[in-house]
Amino acid sequence: MSIDLNARIPNNVNLAEDRRLQRALESWQPTFVNWWKDMGPEGALNHDIYLRTAVDVAAEGWAHFDYVKMPEYRWGIFVAPPVEGRTIGFGEHKGQAVWNEVPGEYRSSLRRLIVTQGDTEPASVEQQRMLGLTCPSLYDLRNLFQVNCEEGRHLWAMVYLLHAYFGRDGREEAEALLERHSGDPDKPRILGAFNEQTPDWLSYFMFTFFTDRDGKFQLSSLAESAFDPLARTCQFMLTEEGHHMFIGTTGVARVVTRTCQVMKDLKTDDPERIRSAGAVDLPTLQRYLNFHYSVSLDLFGQEISTNAANYFTAGLKGRFEESKIDDDHHLNDDTYSVTMFDDDQIKKIDCNALVAVNERLRDDYVTDCQLGVDRWNKILRKYKIDCRLALPHRGFNRYVGSFSGATITPDGDLITAAEWTKGKDDWLPSEHDRAFVISLQKPVTEPGKMAGWIAPPGRGIDGRPLDFEYVKFH
Ligand SMILES: [Fe+2]
Ligand SMILES: [Fe+2]
Repeated sequence: MSIDLNARIPNNVNLAEDRRLQRALESWQPTFVNWWKDMGPEGALNHDIYLRTAVDVAAEGWAHFDYVKMPEYRWGIFVAPPVEGRTIGFGEHKGQAVWNEVPGEYRSSLRRLIVTQGDTEPASVEQQRMLGLTCPSLYDLRNLFQVNCEEGRHLWAMVYLLHAYFGRDGREEAEALLERHSGDPDKPRILGAFNEQTPDWLSYFMFTFFTDRDGKFQLSSLAESAFDPLARTCQFMLTEEGHHMFIGTTGVARVVTRTCQVMKDLKTDDPERIRSAGAVDLPTLQRYLNFHYSVSLDLFGQEISTNAANYFTAGLKGRFEESKIDDDHHLNDDTYSVTMFDDDQIKKIDCNALVAVNERLRDDYVTDCQLGVDRWNKILRKYKIDCRLALPHRGFNRYVGSFSGATITPDGDLITAAEWTKGKDDWLPSEHDRAFVISLQKPVTEPGKMAGWIAPPGRGIDGRPLDFEYVKFH
């Protein structure tokens, strides 16, 4: 299962034995590289970056670190090894052998799932394309480029499935994945959060914490799929995704740490004084958190969804850690408690568990997000600062699902539209906040040095020291 990195398209799917598929992907490759040059990290084509590249798919030792120029990154097609005798774990086909081809009746649903996932991958690269110009350190710059390259590889993963299993429609969808662009008024990306801007590094850390974490949950549920090539593809993507969320968790933690240090040094919690000292005040951090959490909650879709129920019953998309859940994995007779906005009230409603699988995934996501927030609050406690960060109410600032259009505060109070307009700038980043955060974004490129608004990380990458030259500029 090792990977030939010298192949034009490195892979562990025996591409050389399928000449037609190989030619199709080789003809998509230049389109991808052109897209990378146009829409990928700005001004970074010639930098030598200390990147990890997948060289194997085994849990141990799959990554190799070396200096690479991004256009020469070995984007390839890597899938987790097949599990001998794997059977379908849920839905009406439970217990049958998994599929290695797409069943005709599920063709369009599977294509839709793959395209929706695939669309998010290049979208995030587009969203982050200017960040390299304002990095808070070389360590962070390297991590940004690592994430960008891996999101590019995740696009490759989905394009492989489209080309290999969906014929002409699949090839057309693969083209379209590079024709839509984040924030493009005519051809936007499919999902809202992927059309938002990531204009500064605080947004980036929040994005990698909250929005990449949505990716973890979507990929985990697709990794349960009865369509084995999709399951195996997502399984391997998850190993890369872990690092993206690490960047988010530790990135925000470092910002919190720096803020605490400034608060202690100045003996103040006055946002203006903290800002004057070049750190991000806690209320601003909370507003960024509120924004990124709420747009990411939208990514899980409607609370009650017959589409989601159909995907589950068909075996296309399972629940998070499906095999660890102790139930019949059919869900026809089960109920699930769903918090929704109904009849102008926030209610808990017992629903059929099948139509509530989106909500269950959102609940799992919320639990996971809370762990990160707890970790950040531990830092505040350590510095003996009374303020705490918190996830806002799930109905806050929502545009998808029953809460869409409802005006609910972060604390979960139902308010009027006028009160919302009045309070909005206390709960979401205002123009003023954004301008302040952007004013902090000055590039720091001397090895080992950090911008003043963020603490250094606990350790370097791949056992290297913090002052290692993670990026060499050319
Ligand atoms: Fe990804
Ligand atoms: Fe990611």
